Amino acid sequence: MPAPSFPPLSPAALPDERDAQTFELRLERYGPDLLESLRAVYGNDLGDLPARLLEVLARNFRERPADLRRLDEARLLRPDWLQGPEMVGYVAYADRFAGTLAGVGERLDYLEGLGIRYLHLMPLLRPREGENDGGYAVADYRAVRPDLGTMDDLAELARGLRGRGISLVLDLVLNHVAREHEWAERARAGEEKYRAYFHISPDRTLPDLYERTLPEVFPDFAPGNFSYDEGAGGWVWTTFNAYQWDLNWGNPDVFLEFVDLILFLANRGVEVFRLDAIAFLWKRLGTDCQNQPEVHLLTRALRAAARVVAPAVAFKAEAIVSPRELLGYLGRGAHAGRVSDMAYHNSLMVQLWSSLASRDTRLFAEALWAFSPKPTSTTWGVYVRCHDDIGWAIADEDAARAGLSGAAHRHFLSDFYSGEFPGSFARGLVFQHNPQTGDRRISGTAASLAGLEAALEVGDAGRIDDAVRRLLLLHAVILGFGGVPLLYMGDELALLNDYEFADVPEHAADNRWVHRPRMDWDLAGRVSSEPHTPAGRVNAGLRHLLRVRRGLPHLHASVESWPLPSPDGRVLLLRRDHPLGVMVQVYNFSEQEVVLPAYELRGALGAEAVDALTGSRLHLERPTLRLEGYRALWLTQIG
Ligand code: GLC
Repeated sequence: MPAPSFPPLSPAALPDERDAQTFELRLERYGPDLLESLRAVYGNDLGDLPARLLEVLARNFRERPADLRRLDEARLLRPDWLQGPEMVGYVAYADRFAGTLAGVGERLDYLEGLGIRYLHLMPLLRPREGENDGGYAVADYRAVRPDLGTMDDLAELARGLRGRGISLVLDLVLNHVAREHEWAERARAGEEKYRAYFHISPDRTLPDLYERTLPEVFPDFAPGNFSYDEGAGGWVWTTFNAYQWDLNWGNPDVFLEFVDLILFLANRGVEVFRLDAIAFLWKRLGTDCQNQPEVHLLTRALRAAARVVAPAVAFKAEAIVSPRELLGYLGRGAHAGRVSDMAYHNSLMVQLWSSLASRDTRLFAEALWAFSPKPTSTTWGVYVRCHDDIGWAIADEDAARAGLSGAAHRHFLSDFYSGEFPGSFARGLVFQHNPQTGDRRISGTAASLAGLEAALEVGDAGRIDDAVRRLLLLHAVILGFGGVPLLYMGDELALLNDYEFADVPEHAADNRWVHRPRMDWDLAGRVSSEPHTPAGRVNAGLRHLLRVRRGLPHLHASVESWPLPSPDGRVLLLRRDHPLGVMVQVYNFSEQEVVLPAYELRGALGAEAVDALTGSRLHLERPTLRLEGYRALWLTQIG
């Protein structure tokens, strides 16, 4: 079988000779990858797909604005732009942060002051009316939610951000569209072309077969994976809510639509696409319909297409899957470096909370050991909290190696973070209790989960102090791990749970809104003059961590963080072997002082080291090291 190829580019497609040359060179470089991946998904005979794809690529290339083409060149010269220690992300809902897109534009000083280089604005493309899963039910990918602004406002904001070296990150919801999206409307109107964009079954035969092996994402408010739709005259695949219709990626037209959408948004200045719920894209009978090989092939094809037109763009995979599967999203085997540039490190987030509750890091270390190294050109998205609930993704094998029962530990964590466990410091809410599996996921802000809410209720200074230290410890780990730390809006001010979500009819049933509060600009304005309040301490501590991080080349994401055997279960030790020297990070996950034997540190670092967080020298030839409760050390070798 001859290698697939594109038809020749017509001179009219790219009249400018220099443009045509650049385009052709990139097509030469990435075209084979693109077409081979498509052939692996859609079969050897691609029909007119290459010709249609070429039209979409050339048109978007022609329309790419000059300033973004300049960014493309700059990125080609600095392919590790997402990996440096200066890269820090901030995640916010535009309306909850600043009202509108123009409002966000007025807060750039604030973001720049924090050292933000990456701004993920939560879903802002036009969703369906009413319930819309926090915007993850998109009705129009080419329009902005009207109360936030217009597409021009978005492009304007992106320009403003770019001017300050901040990359705009948007969600690309590609597993499903809103039931009100034009494609779904036309499918319901009976147009065959659009019915083929979805999975619609006339009766329950296929849905029942699939359900045998499918898990449920929202067992509480959206049980099952199929919804009967009167208009469509059948059962529609709806993994999430009934109003979110899963797309049929087995149809190359869907692929082509998304290439065009990605490039349309990239030409408005979006620099990173968060590939929402990417694991679910491909359905295969007899499986859980997640992480199928076609998902990676399709990502690879989308990535290659983006590289031809907009090399400045990067992809981030939102795959909340087991560690074994997760590496696939950064590229395993032949896919290495060719799929997403970044993926959420869900396991790290879960382990942070797990160790905080148990005051024991042995499971944390086991979980990290279970990871193989990621491709060196990729990076993790590391986070303490995000807009979603926390699911206790703890592998039974990892738990067993740490001497725990996975099921019992998950049960404990749900009890602990819902505040039910005796002595728990946390104030969280149970999200999606699944009686069949026993799963209870948890909602709540970082500050409420770390104990600040409960401590403030009783006004206990010691407990408040512990909560502040916990929050700083968690942030020290994500800032030190080597990846893009994603600060979740409000965590820099230790914002507590927002129970008012229950009064908003569209939010009341979904308690994830408890941790999606509105920005408190009053507090943000005065926090630096209140250094002794909890918010003031968290804010100052976080800013300090961010400053230190920026100056530490050891934190480049191409280097892995590996756990060292820890002489004390309460303390996590992470080692990074950077060409500039070894770095060892020490994290005490308990409120107690720990006297740590120094031999492990001495073996890695030598007789003396500097703690980058305080600038002080540590003499490791002494037999022990005293570590106060919740203390973090970032030790680098001297010389
Ligand atoms: C992702 C989002 C989540 C949403 C789901 C469906 O997991 O983070 O908020 O409910 O996708 O789009």
